[in-house]
Amino acid sequence: MFIVFEGIDGSGKTTQAEILSRKLTSLGIPNIWTREPSDGLIGQNLRKLETRLAPEEESRLFLEDRLDHVKKVIDPAIKNHEHVICDRYYHSSAAYQGSRGLNPNDILRENSSRVPIPDIVFLIEISVSTALFRIGKCRPEGFSVFEKAAELEKVAAIYKTFDDSSIRRINGEKRSSELSLEILEHLKNLGLKICCC
Ligand code: TYD
Repeated sequence: MFIVFEGIDGSGKTTQAEILSRKLTSLGIPNIWTREPSDGLIGQNLRKLETRLAPEEESRLFLEDRLDHVKKVIDPAIKNHEHVICDRYYHSSAAYQGSRGLNPNDILRENSSRVPIPDIVFLIEISVSTALFRIGKCRPEGFSVFEKAAELEKVAAIYKTFDDSSIRRINGEKRSSELSLEILEHLKNLGLKICCC
């Protein structure tokens, strides 16, 4: 199964992705945890960016990173019958580069025609004020260029518009342990053989 976690910065998606991966591993279910921007060369450069590029250029680089990530990490794991748990994927491009004026639907259309489509996308929703509080509290280095309030509002507004059948909206204001159980329930309903204990 190809499982993606999405949400604005500070939503807790990375925590949930890691909890899920550990849970599956503890149950002997083969899986990999991975993320975008990826750990490949383009992804590493994207993470180091200190100024914003033109939206078109950003969009192009995130897609290039994704193609590389799919080729080197996601496809091989799928072929190896491992579940793939990915922290951010093409809905991030639609939401973040869309927040800079590009058409989110065009980004979704182009990406989904070029890379594997996830079986399920957990979209963890929190308010921007919660996000800013968490980002400020958890990351001593402060906000990245991507993490400004006005921009997060725009990003969150685009995330709200997504309605593909793979999307499952999760209330990220709840306790982390509740979220993990809810996520496992969704996966069981999709046919993943796990015991929720
Ligand atoms: P993030 O998951 O927040 O990484 P970290 O927790 O290590 O800071 O991703 C970094 C930023 O990249 C985030 O603010 C969103 C942005 N991003 C895009 O703008 N477009 C994309 O396609 C992806 C994958 C990420």
